[in-house]
Amino acid sequence: MRIRSISVTLILGAAISCNVSNEDYGWLKNGIDTSVAQLKIAAEKADGTDMLPCCNYAGQDLEFLGWQLGKEPSAFMDSLRACPPADKIGKMNLCGIYDWRSGFFPGSLWYGFEITGDKELKEEAVKYTNMLNPIRSYNGTHDLGFMMNCSYGNALRLSPDDTVATVLVETADNLCSRFHSGIGAIRSWDFGPWNYPVIIDNMMNLELLFNAERLTGDRKYRDIAIRHANTTLANHFRPDRTSWHVVSYNNDGTVECRQTFQGRNDDSAWARGQAWGVYGYTECFRETGDSTYLAFAQEIADMIMSRVNTDDLIPYWDYDAPESPKTPRDASAAAVTSCGLFELSTFISEGQRYFDYAEGILRSLSSPAYLSTPGENDGFILMHSTGSLPHGSEVDTALNYADYYYLEAIKRYMEIKGLEYSRL
Ligand code: GLY
Repeated sequence: MRIRSISVTLILGAAISCNVSNEDYGWLKNGIDTSVAQLKIAAEKADGTDMLPCCNYAGQDLEFLGWQLGKEPSAFMDSLRACPPADKIGKMNLCGIYDWRSGFFPGSLWYGFEITGDKELKEEAVKYTNMLNPIRSYNGTHDLGFMMNCSYGNALRLSPDDTVATVLVETADNLCSRFHSGIGAIRSWDFGPWNYPVIIDNMMNLELLFNAERLTGDRKYRDIAIRHANTTLANHFRPDRTSWHVVSYNNDGTVECRQTFQGRNDDSAWARGQAWGVYGYTECFRETGDSTYLAFAQEIADMIMSRVNTDDLIPYWDYDAPESPKTPRDASAAAVTSCGLFELSTFISEGQRYFDYAEGILRSLSSPAYLSTPGENDGFILMHSTGSLPHGSEVDTALNYADYYYLEAIKRYMEIKGLEYSRL
C-alpha cells in the first residue's frame, strides 16, 4: 500500500507541478535560507549545555488570559505555570531530553540538511540526535513518537544504519507497553486527575509504530496503531468534526470524560488539536490504505478550512477564542495543518483545493509576519505560536515544533512541485 500511495503522490505531484514552472520561488528560498541560518544559531547556543532549544520564554498578562478564557483570573491562577523573569522574555528556553519536545530540534536539523544538502546541518543533526539515545529505554509518556521518530526516524531515512533501527524498535516497544487492549488505546499522560487519558496529539505517535512494523515485519505494531486510531476516531470527535483534546476512559473502555485541557473550554476547538487530527488520519490512510481514514481526514480538513477565518490562514490559538488584533495566533497549528493538507492533496483527485490552502499557509508562514529575520528571535525560525494559553505558557512565541513542521511542509511542498533547492 505504501508503494501505491507514493505513486499516487508522484502522479498528482507531477500534474500540479506542470502548471507552475515559471513561478517565482524567492519567498520559498528566503524561508529556507532563513531556516538554515537560524538552525545554525540555535545549534551554537545549545552547544555544550546537554539540552536542546525548545521555545522562547514568553510573559503572562492575567487580565488578557482571563478575557481569552472567559474566566476571572482567580478561576485559573492555580493552573498557571511559573512566569519567567522579565529579563528572560523573548530569550531561548532549552529543554532536557525527557521533555516531549526534545526530538523537534534534531528533526529540524535533519530536514534542513535534506532540503539544502548542507553538511554542517547533518553534523549537528547527528550530534543532537545522539543526545536522545537514553530515551530508547523510557516509557513514561506517549510522546515517544514525537521525541524519537522526529529525530531517529529522520536519521533512519537520511543516514540509515542498524543502530538507528534498533533504537526505533526499542522505543516502539516502550510505546506499545502503554497500550491497554481492553480500552483499545495508548495511554497519553501519567499525571493529572484522569483514569486513562488519551489526547488527540497521540495520533502523531503512531508513525513510529508503522515504522517499527516496516523494520521488523511484526504486525503487532500496526495492529496497535490501528486500534488506537479507531478508538480515537470513535470517541474524540464531535459531529462537526472538531475534536476534544482529552478523552479519558474507564477501565472497561467506556468514556470517563471529555475535555480540552489546552483550549478555551472543554467544548472549544483548540487549534493545534484540529491540526494533529488532520495530519494523523491522513498518515493513517497513507500507512493502511483504509478509505475510512481518508474520508475522515477530508472531513477534518473541510472543517478546518471553514472554521479558520483569518485572512492569512494562520489560526487563532483556539477557533472559539474572542477575536481581536491581540488574540494570539498559533503558527505551529498552521504548520502542522499545512503538512497534513499537502499530503492529503496527493491522495484524492479533487486534492488541488487542499494543496492551494496548504500553500497559502506556507506563504504566510514564510512572510515577515511570521518568519524571523536572520539573527533575531533567538535562533528560532517562526514567531507567533501558542503552547498552552490556559496555563499562561508560551503564549505568542517561538516553538520548536512550529519550526519542525514548517520545514516538513517545505519539504512536502517541494516534493509535490518537483522543486530542488539549488534551482530556486
Ligand atoms: N503535545 C502537546 C501540544 O500539542 O501542546
